[in-house]
Amino acid sequence: MSKLSRIITVALSVPIFSCLVGCGMNKLFQKQDYGALPDGRKAELYTLTNADGLKATLTNYGAILVSMEVPDRDGKLADVTHGYDTLKGWLSNTSYFGSTVGRYGNRIAKGQFALDGKTYSLAKNNNGENALHGGIKGFDKVLWDAKPVKQAGAVGVEFNYVSRDGEEGYPGNLKNTVTYWLTDKNELRIEFKATTDKPTIVNLCHHSYWNLTGDPKNTILDHELMLAADRFLPVDKGLIPTGERRPVEGTPFDFTKLTKVGARINAEDEQLKLGNGYDHCWVLRSKTGDVALAATLYDPSSGRAMDLSTDQPGIQFYCGNFLDGSAAGKGGTKYAFRTALCLETQRFPDSPNKPDFPSAVLRPGETYRHTMVHRFYTR
Ligand code: BGC
Repeated sequence: MSKLSRIITVALSVPIFSCLVGCGMNKLFQKQDYGALPDGRKAELYTLTNADGLKATLTNYGAILVSMEVPDRDGKLADVTHGYDTLKGWLSNTSYFGSTVGRYGNRIAKGQFALDGKTYSLAKNNNGENALHGGIKGFDKVLWDAKPVKQAGAVGVEFNYVSRDGEEGYPGNLKNTVTYWLTDKNELRIEFKATTDKPTIVNLCHHSYWNLTGDPKNTILDHELMLAADRFLPVDKGLIPTGERRPVEGTPFDFTKLTKVGARINAEDEQLKLGNGYDHCWVLRSKTGDVALAATLYDPSSGRAMDLSTDQPGIQFYCGNFLDGSAAGKGGTKYAFRTALCLETQRFPDSPNKPDFPSAVLRPGETYRHTMVHRFYTR
């Protein structure tokens, strides 16, 4: 870039930024300090608000969704996600509340995979012999660069992070972008993008824990869920898919119609026992690669509902089976067993070791993309 074009770029971007933060637009985008990391670098908090009062709060630490406030059927706003009030809480977050998970969300068997004839060993992080959610210091534990962004009908924050060749064992310098948009259609849209300079594997995920009642002391067992999937991936005792795509029909895994999460959760079923409840990936029906409806979540008590659409082949439905009341979260709440659930759109777990699964390989010159659209409404 020439010196002149650099000056023009800076001259143009400064007013846009300060306008978003400082003049008139400040109702839509606000930025504040969120404290310092142990190494002294500063984290920030960004608040996006739309005309209906929905509010998404984010931090550049871990590109995390800190909170999501949405109205119930009487218009009363409440935060519908688990998490922490302060940066200190997020620094020791072991549940991946609200996090951007990468470079590979979900599990890779034995923390190993082979690519183009070379075997790679990944950092293992207390998940038996497997690697989970990107390693010991995954993308949820790094500081991302952030900038405000805006387009017609939406305000957002773009986060960027370059993961170095060899980080947590993964090959290639990987440039990652995650953009969160809050739209005037009451959607939280998340767009992931990555490029690499060496062949590698990528599966970026968003890991919010939802409780649409707005009271994190309630369980999510009375939430109703629909998954646009006719098959799911059975797992072994380490929660690694066996490779089978099993029809859901006639099993407790059938969520083809809105069904209470708790209706069959204690059924005599080998897969429910292995997952300690639902902790499986469903094979989404849509095969076009376009963004299509993947799930609907509905809480009859508050009337809050959320449609989730994606372009990914799978969705991990995890119903908080490992929450045990030990983590003191927002307002000091101890998040108990099954008080939130995750709907993580993604490539299938352990894809790098399963040639029959949709590929998670990214090569130089290609662009990895993943879109999730959460649309909030009431019924
Ligand atoms: C996994 C769970 C895991 C949770 C928190 C989910 O994506 O499926 O098994 O306990 O993340 O790490």
